[in-house]
Amino acid sequence: MAKVTLQTLAAKKESGEKFACLTAYDSTFANIVSTQGVEVILVGDSLGNVVQGEDTTLPVTVDDMCYHTRCVAKGNEDSLIMADLPFASYHDVDQAIMNSARLMRAGADMVKLEGEGWLPPIVTRLREQGIPVCAHLGLTPQFVNVLGGYKVQGREVDRANAMIQAAIDLEAAGTALLLLECVPVSLAREITRAVSIPVIGIGAGADTDGQILVSYDMLDLTPGRKARFVKNFMEQAGSPRGAVANYVKEVKDGSYPAKEHCFN
Ligand code: KIV
Repeated sequence: MAKVTLQTLAAKKESGEKFACLTAYDSTFANIVSTQGVEVILVGDSLGNVVQGEDTTLPVTVDDMCYHTRCVAKGNEDSLIMADLPFASYHDVDQAIMNSARLMRAGADMVKLEGEGWLPPIVTRLREQGIPVCAHLGLTPQFVNVLGGYKVQGREVDRANAMIQAAIDLEAAGTALLLLECVPVSLAREITRAVSIPVIGIGAGADTDGQILVSYDMLDLTPGRKARFVKNFMEQAGSPRGAVANYVKEVKDGSYPAKEHCFN
């Protein structure tokens, strides 16, 4: 695979080819992921849950994110590396630039942040500083205490309309990618059509331009109850490398996510 850039992902949206994204937190798994054709590696703040054993992503620090981004960058071949700005690390422009710069120096190609209406000025300034941004909408785990739990977002008409408007405003502000988590299929489809930037989904149906999963979930390593959108790719594959290869194949041929992984 040639080095994946934002232009690669834009061309895939244009041509209708789906792209695959997975989280990674270390060098070994980043190498497996990137050599199996995953276009985007997310160094997610989900590392708070799956690596650190925390109940939420809130305890994750910028230092933690820089450490894991550096590990992933060492193992990566050609995937685009996106790193999460963790909880409360981008509440104003100056703080967002300073912390994003640390992630970029650690090896990220772009940053991801969570939010809606208040984000556009921050996105614009980051882009002006050479830092591309992915905006994470829908179920935003850093806001779990405001949202009242990990629930599907955008089922009510006014929330759905606000999310569509936020997506349009974020694109106008210079956002490079959107990520939609746990939203109804119809809303994800509408947002994906309303913007010209690539849209990645998790629990958002099959109509987004790309798909993402937390790697520990799709490898069936995460204990406890699985979210509806998670598929165990280890069951058929027998090895992590095979599981990632099957995930890429199923994202690209449209067989993942299937109806049973989606919300209405
Ligand atoms: O941190 C993370 O792993 C994420 C995914 C759930 C998309 O943001």
